[in-house]
Amino acid sequence: MPVDSTPKPEGEARTVWSGRKARGGNRVIQILRRLKNAVSKSARNPITAWKMLWPRYGPFAPRTPDPEFRRSIRWSFGKLKREPMNAVFPGIESTDVRIVSCFDREPLLSMSPSEVMAIGAMVRTLKPRRVLEIGTFEGNTTVNLAANAPADARVYTLDLPPGWGGTFGLEVPDIHDNAAPGHHTGRQFIGSRYAGKVRQLWGDSAQFDWDEFSPFDFILIDGCHTYEYALADTRNALRVVRPGGVIVWHDYGMLEDVSRAVDEFADEMKVHAIQGTRLAVGFP
Ligand SMILES: C[S@@+](CC[C@H](N)C(=O)[O-])C[C@H]1O[C@@H](n2cnc3c(N)ncnc32)[C@H](O)[C@@H]1O
Repeated sequence: MPVDSTPKPEGEARTVWSGRKARGGNRVIQILRRLKNAVSKSARNPITAWKMLWPRYGPFAPRTPDPEFRRSIRWSFGKLKREPMNAVFPGIESTDVRIVSCFDREPLLSMSPSEVMAIGAMVRTLKPRRVLEIGTFEGNTTVNLAANAPADARVYTLDLPPGWGGTFGLEVPDIHDNAAPGHHTGRQFIGSRYAGKVRQLWGDSAQFDWDEFSPFDFILIDGCHTYEYALADTRNALRVVRPGGVIVWHDYGMLEDVSRAVDEFADEMKVHAIQGTRLAVGFP
């Protein structure tokens, strides 16, 4: 899969995989189109765009020719102390993890390989039988959840349906629109040896019936990243998580909205931010 290293706010993600890239054509035109899209979204959401881009691309950002590294610096939002994995999950350091297709990823949307590894280690350690993921995308996290969960586990993963009309259940400024509905959804688990453990669910997480397949032992929240969605997804997760289960959020530290919502929940339950990742883990 080609790697898109163009700096852009999250909201441009839909353009990245909507198929325009696959149609090939003139690379310069593609770059100009992306640039135009990013500029017009930034113009409509200047404060959010500034907060997202300035620390990474402004004059005081550390210089590096590595776009992946540049994206990961200044994961500075959120008030939680970052803790090593083995401080949060004692004994996890001796866990072996199965990693599936960890480099088959879209850098702006998929978790990093080390985050996938952290999720896999958590699942190996906690042995959840019922897993819920919000935000399937191409199924990289889904297939890795399934690969590391016990043999009889079931992984439910929710994404916007193919043919989704473009209207979110809650208000979403377009800079936060990371919707990726369509035929790519879940492609990494479909046809894999773990497909039998996975059930694809379709819907908007703000409108979906979370109770239908509950309860869950492990819930991963990585869908829409506005503050309102992070709050709503977490409230729903709290209702359907089993006693002793965990809630994991992606993008803690990197996205202000997600970080603010998680910080608020950290006042009412134990939440740990994991060092070297954008993962936060809540123990309701
Ligand atoms: C960041 S990607 C998930 C990445 C995936 N967890 C991984 O690392 O491989 C976010 C996904 O959430 C989906 N999404 C966005 N808004 C949503 C919503 N309101 N309800 C359900 N899914 C949503 C998008 O379509 C997209 O596929």
